[in-house]
Amino acid sequence: MPEVKVYSRGFSVADLFTTGKKNYRVAELDEISINEIKLVKVKGKRIVLCRGEEGYYALNDKCPHKGHSLSRGVMICNTLTCIMHGSQFDVKTGGRKAGPAQKDVEKYKVVEQDGGVYILV
Ligand code: FES
Repeated sequence: MPEVKVYSRGFSVADLFTTGKKNYRVAELDEISINEIKLVKVKGKRIVLCRGEEGYYALNDKCPHKGHSLSRGVMICNTLTCIMHGSQFDVKTGGRKAGPAQKDVEKYKVVEQDGGVYILV
């Protein structure tokens, strides 16, 4: 028998009910331009919303090097650079690409739907 999947705003039931997380609308689809970033606050968490060439991505705002706000950084070609010491992260994966940071950045699931951008927190 095929697996039945039910989705709510692009998130699976498993995303919403087995994790205890909820989806939050954090921006309108055209609110920010490609290569722009926006700080959003959800459930007490600071999250940097990034718009790449292929869509939106969301990362923890806290740089894993010394905790500077990544939302004050610069994004070019899906790479977010922390302005404090220059660590660079892939916005699609949160993976560290260069710089003094030794860890990746936490990534949040993002869905674009109904003219808005939703993240799962
Ligand atoms: S605090 Fe981000 S690179 Fe040092």
